Amino acid sequence: LNWQREKEKRNAAFKAIEYVEEGMVLGLGTGTTVYYFLKALGKEIKESHFKIKCVPSSVETEKIAREFGIPLTTLQEERVLDLTVDGADEVDKAFNLIKGGGGALLREKLLASNSKKEIIIVDSSKLVEKLGGFPLPVEVVQFGVELTKRKLEGLGAKVEHRRKEGELFVTDNGNYILDCQFAAIEEPKKLETIINLIPGVVENGLFVGLVDMVLVGEGDEVKVLKKGKGK
Ligand code: 5RP
Repeated sequence: LNWQREKEKRNAAFKAIEYVEEGMVLGLGTGTTVYYFLKALGKEIKESHFKIKCVPSSVETEKIAREFGIPLTTLQEERVLDLTVDGADEVDKAFNLIKGGGGALLREKLLASNSKKEIIIVDSSKLVEKLGGFPLPVEVVQFGVELTKRKLEGLGAKVEHRRKEGELFVTDNGNYILDCQFAAIEEPKKLETIINLIPGVVENGLFVGLVDMVLVGEGDEVKVLKKGKGK
């Protein structure tokens, strides 16, 4: 464990609490950075008694949120979220992201697309000049996975079928993840669209134009990056 990095994640997560307001409906991302946010949020709810409702982006986040006493709801009940707080695997200067390292990209993208505001919390190692150093996670249906894999390779990626503890990794939605190593991704929007046109692809981890604010833990500080400013 890299303690400096953990501190940066925790600081960024704590900072995000400042943007949570009474009565909000909140989307909850997934991952180790979000874990710190959930912990802080649970504490805040207990101490300040403020009322919020949250939609989790994964079975894992749902479980952790319950443990921390965070009230949960669903996208059936709440169609618009006031704010979603999530992590990322890479963030570029235009606030485009690669997500899905934890395999929750599909539900995370649904929350981001239906949220009035999206705040991303990261440690400083996640900031990049260009996306693509981190292999792009692509969620695909199990049926015909080898053919889908070949189509992705046809786009120039080196493709790995994701495994967990030796077994093929299965998402909360019953799908597989193909991790696609491209060279630097020059046109994220274009690649996002092209990948999603392949039959068998459910969604990919490129998030383009969905983020309003990035909170970056850097040493002992947290940098607040807002869209159009400070970039
Ligand atoms: C899960 C994600 C995570 O937000 C991403 O993998 C970052 O995780 P961590 O905070 O553990 O580094 O996209 O699907």
